[in-house]
Amino acid sequence: MSTQEFAELQLFITGPTFIRPEIREAGLLPEFGHRDTENNKRFAPIMAGLKQLAGAGENWHVILFNGSGSSAMEATVRSLVADDETVLNVSVGAFGDLYHKMAVVNGKKAAQLKFAPGEAIDLAKLEAALVEHKPACVTFTHNETSTGVTNDMKAVCALVRKHGALPLVDGVSIFGGAAIDLDNSGACTYATSTQKSLALPAGFGILFANAEAIEKAKNVKNKGFATDIVAQLGRASKNQTLTTPNTTLANQMYVQVTGIVNQEGIENRFARHLKMQAMTHEFVKSLPGFEMLAPEGHRSPTVTAVRVPAGMTVAQLKKVKEAMRAKGYLFDPGYGKLNTDLEEKGERVLLRLGHMGDVTPDMLAKYLEALKPELLK
Ligand SMILES: Cc1ncc(COP(=O)(O)O)c(C=O)c1O
Repeated sequence: MSTQEFAELQLFITGPTFIRPEIREAGLLPEFGHRDTENNKRFAPIMAGLKQLAGAGENWHVILFNGSGSSAMEATVRSLVADDETVLNVSVGAFGDLYHKMAVVNGKKAAQLKFAPGEAIDLAKLEAALVEHKPACVTFTHNETSTGVTNDMKAVCALVRKHGALPLVDGVSIFGGAAIDLDNSGACTYATSTQKSLALPAGFGILFANAEAIEKAKNVKNKGFATDIVAQLGRASKNQTLTTPNTTLANQMYVQVTGIVNQEGIENRFARHLKMQAMTHEFVKSLPGFEMLAPEGHRSPTVTAVRVPAGMTVAQLKKVKEAMRAKGYLFDPGYGKLNTDLEEKGERVLLRLGHMGDVTPDMLAKYLEALKPELLK
């Protein structure tokens, strides 16, 4: 096998996402020392740009973890849930379950509130769980990648705060593709990653933590090493990472984040995502027997999960995947475990359409045109 055999596929999966040529080329920029003055040339604009993208003002710190979105999420559990406290993990799908698992395997007292695939968080049920469990922290997923459901972050955070708990939000698959407005969100922490709507290779978990998160973490014991947000902040406040970063990714991230802020424009980027969301909805409506899983009002601007017609199987979706590979695309035949469960129960399975990052409406139009005949075969 040689690298010449690596297929050049345009990714329409839900992450990692398509990387545009300028960002690939930025991988050739000079390596640097992460405790040298060269570090700040990359990371000062990266940190400032990330805050702008998040709508995060003075009260917010940005921390870059080596790893991925999970690294930032796990750090919030380790740093913000004390041994005698309960964390309530609210789940509308696979990634809500992941946040719960992180709490359980780290030995935290964890309760879970689960909703069926396709449902968003129901505030009345959440309120009942808050009354029952009296959690100190509540985790939830802003944008559930397995189902294409977006939760109302502000409403959920407001309710969590009404019951005196801190909201810890997973924004992995939406950040960079939609306005987050962290200042007015009510969140205490917001975790995300590089390989989704930011359209970079994976490699950093990004955490926005506000001042109250840092104050609380100072009094939590056994935070681990790389999962300690206070130790992380010691370096992040100097625009550094706690451990050695991937300098290739840092160079790419500099070009990408400054490009979003200064060239594409943040508002234009969000508008492009809304346009692609509308195109995707039109496409789904044009396919007989197919329908959007997420309810109106909770449909994601970055990923759409689609119920296929009754009788269409996961095996057939895998054939669609291979047919699309032959056309130069990587298609997403649904979230594996969820589809296995649905198929076992005799329910309609799902496919997913990623429409985020640096994909353009033109690219998406061509992809959907190539996909349509494969789905209607
Ligand atoms: C919503 C959500 N949360 C968390 C994760 C885990 O992030 P990572 O793979 O960057 O660790 C993912 C990954 O797909 C995700 O979509």
